[in-house]
Amino acid sequence: MYILGIETTCDETACAIVQDGFEILGHTISSQIDLHSVFGGVVPELASRRHIDIIRPVVEQTVAESGLTLRDIDAVAVAKGPGLIGALLVGIHFAQGLSWSLQKPLIGINHIEAHLYAAIMSQKTAPLFPSLGIVLSGGHTSLVKIFDIGNYELIGETIDDAIGEAFDKAAKILGLGYPGGPIIETHAREGNPHTYPFKGGQVKKRPLDFSFSGIKTKLLYTVRGQNGVHETEPITPAMLNDLCASFQRAVFDDVLAKTRLALTTFTAHAIYLGGGVTQNKYLRALFEKELPIPSYWPSFSLCLDNAAMIAGLAFHKQPFTDELLTVQPETRMPF
Ligand code: KG4
Ligand code: ZN
Repeated sequence: MYILGIETTCDETACAIVQDGFEILGHTISSQIDLHSVFGGVVPELASRRHIDIIRPVVEQTVAESGLTLRDIDAVAVAKGPGLIGALLVGIHFAQGLSWSLQKPLIGINHIEAHLYAAIMSQKTAPLFPSLGIVLSGGHTSLVKIFDIGNYELIGETIDDAIGEAFDKAAKILGLGYPGGPIIETHAREGNPHTYPFKGGQVKKRPLDFSFSGIKTKLLYTVRGQNGVHETEPITPAMLNDLCASFQRAVFDDVLAKTRLALTTFTAHAIYLGGGVTQNKYLRALFEKELPIPSYWPSFSLCLDNAAMIAGLAFHKQPFTDELLTVQPETRMPF
């Protein structure tokens, strides 16, 4: 079965064709980083307009790369949320048009669920359940029990900034570019992670929830003095590296501690991780070293927003309920 997937939830316009949930035949991601980096973050209206301009060539390029024709497609899948309303509408309307013209079913997919599926589809072996799922992206930070593909229980989430957002905001405070995660990781490699005693936040009576707004403020006060009004001292390159290393260590120590705690609440056979932050090599090494069960990661091309995870997950939604006339964008969507 060939499924064509479309992803436009935020600032990547992506299309992929996936065979039987695993084999990627065509895969295109058009990033908008050039458009948004000058603003230090995603500008929703600009994102929607770029999606409109680029979606058709992105789909055409993917079909050409796959060696198939549109007539070979068995179903169309689209990320229906969570995401930016205007951005979602572009992908959904395009997918509806395609599904209608091909007379094939349309399947609406939860983008966050698809991030976890990216780790499952990246393995050669069958998934192990029950397992712990961890989504670490620019918009989400979630811990879930995975009983099967499509059967989850949310056990922890962020109450303020998402983890990727925390990296992006930290980079902004430090005068680094956007997106912040990869830049902080690069500087952190040269720094001492124990120079600054940063710590992830704890949420009262909700030990598996995350809070990253405090650590961001702590970083701000460290570089600009109390209340963030002036610079205490110029940041030398060595200080910058130590700040990045300490920030990264604190954030990932917090994720590790909450992962350990989550693993005490049920018997998990494995951990599946997804989302842009899982590109981070320090995080991968930390999990491999510290945890007693295997961690499974998306291949590097499936960490950031992409449509292969959308088309791949859709395969597991059979028997299909055709959402051609009912699909709605959902800016917020329960896991
Ligand atoms: O999954 P994603 O494309 O976006 C959402 O669905 O929200 O992830 C983007 C996020 C950005 O916040 C970016 O800073 C972060 O992933 N990121 C990283 C790294 N690469 C990307 N964070 C930490 N380390 C990295 N190497
Ligand atoms: Zn995402």
